[in-house]
Amino acid sequence: MARTRTSARNEIFEMLKEDHKRAKKAFRDFAKLDEEGDTQACEALAARTCKELQLHMRLEEDVFYPAARAGLKEEDLVEEAEVEHGSAKALIEKMQALSGDDPKFAATFTVLGEYIKHHVKEEENEMFEQLGRAKVDWEGVLEEMLAHRMELEAELGLAAEDAEDEAAADLALAARQAQGRTQAKAARRA
Ligand SMILES: [Fe+2]
Ligand SMILES: [Fe+2]
Repeated sequence: MARTRTSARNEIFEMLKEDHKRAKKAFRDFAKLDEEGDTQACEALAARTCKELQLHMRLEEDVFYPAARAGLKEEDLVEEAEVEHGSAKALIEKMQALSGDDPKFAATFTVLGEYIKHHVKEEENEMFEQLGRAKVDWEGVLEEMLAHRMELEAELGLAAEDAEDEAAADLALAARQAQGRTQAKAARRA
């Protein structure tokens, strides 16, 4: 069935919001891990999240932002978003050079999470909001985004790596939670 312009636009917003949600969850999960006890899981979660953010930002910069720029009255929104991407990318590069036992590792990732949270809020509440009324060839943009996403996944090695890293982080989180429950029980008994 052919997509309508409106359903294509909604599909694009959903795809980007899904990425945002996933990133925000990753930062929340990271905060629950113990950087000393779960160093490996912390490293894996941070590495995967950084790559996923790289993919998301490139997808926006290469396809979505140019379309948004053409459709928006306030082009400043795109300029600001690109500057924010610049700061996030610099932090990601810093992250990628740090090992999990570096004292700045968790702090750098936490600051990245704060940047991302702010950036995502502006995108969803301002940019997407204004784009709801813009005249854009959303069907074409969606096709391009889907194709580019696949290219980027292959380039960043995300498709295959995903499952393994995710399993490691989930396991460590489950262990943390179980430990928390045991400690709570012990505390009740004491
Ligand atoms: Fe963005
Ligand atoms: Fe985004």
